[in-house]
Amino acid sequence: MDTILFSQPLSEADLDRAAAIIRGGGLLGIPTETVYGLGADGLNETAVLHIFEAKGRPQDNPLILHVPDAGWLPKYCQDIPAEAYALARHFWPGPLTMILPRREIVPLRTTGGLSTVGVRCPNHPLTLEIIRRAGVPIAAPSGNTSGRPSPTTAQHMVEDMWGKIDGIVDGGSCGVGVESTIIDLTVTPPRLLRPGGLPLEALEAVLGEVAVDKAVVSKLSDGEKPKAPGMKYRHYAPKAPVTVVTGPAEQSAAWIAANCGEQDGVICFSEFLQLFSGHEVHDLGPMGDLPEQARRVFDALRRFDETDVPAIWAQCPGPEGLGLAVGNRLKKAAGFHLVEAAP
Ligand code: TXA
Ligand code: MG
Repeated sequence: MDTILFSQPLSEADLDRAAAIIRGGGLLGIPTETVYGLGADGLNETAVLHIFEAKGRPQDNPLILHVPDAGWLPKYCQDIPAEAYALARHFWPGPLTMILPRREIVPLRTTGGLSTVGVRCPNHPLTLEIIRRAGVPIAAPSGNTSGRPSPTTAQHMVEDMWGKIDGIVDGGSCGVGVESTIIDLTVTPPRLLRPGGLPLEALEAVLGEVAVDKAVVSKLSDGEKPKAPGMKYRHYAPKAPVTVVTGPAEQSAAWIAANCGEQDGVICFSEFLQLFSGHEVHDLGPMGDLPEQARRVFDALRRFDETDVPAIWAQCPGPEGLGLAVGNRLKKAAGFHLVEAAP
């Protein structure tokens, strides 16, 4: 299949062509502020099936519907609690997905057979405009091949999807860099299913108590079912095995320097780069700059696949603010294989 690359700046005609791909049941790589998505008409079962095929994604892993504003919620959801509108007022457009009861119009193919649906309003002008022009909600998982790190640039989308989809819209690098935070509003108290670009603390400020799903912080044992089906799959994993080294940054850096093999790769904070000269090393950003770490984490993981490193060692931020999401992505890449650097 020929893939069209819509480069910046997009003309009016480009936006119409991109919207026509969605309306016609095609697949389109779309930029969002979190990560790039692999989009299709979320109400068109055949188009949605093609998303699963292009990604190699298990059919029981539901997709998120992307809408241009909260006014679209009642079209696809029912029994919408007041909290949903309060969250939308505070955080949309932005990196927050809400799980709500689905209406019949949303195909079970989209929701992975569930009676609920995830909805989010992404904060990217090109994608908002394409959804409005298409006139349908865009179902979009992250645009990576299943199991690979999520794409945060149009180039990453090209790496995974060139020749497999109708078009890719280049909207620049993603400003947030980790996927949306997912909150389940069908339970009391609301439950965090995936940490993401909106910190848990921001949700708590609006909702009060928020429960945190076990799959967020630990590896589930065999047979245990997470509430977000996607949390059970191996994720974000480079070819080489990853080990996350926790503990205070000076100690984790020293631990990695003392224990890693000569050929091994390293992901570390900027402050410790000089400890690892001679290694394949990726800079996660300054220790205190969580937004920068979020923007870099997937590219750091992805770049190792162009190398032959036999193993990868990663430093990891603490769980405050965006650190919960950055740490979760690193730990999932490591299959929750962690080492504590003793103080
Ligand atoms: O930032 C994002 O959310 C990006 C961009 C493209 O919007 N999308 C994204 O989609 O990360 P995906 O498919 O890679 O991750 C969606 C996660 C999966 O873990 C899935 O299981 C969960 O959301 N999910 C979707 N619908 C759900 C539902 N009804 N109930 C529980 N979990 C759901
Ligand atoms: Mg994904």
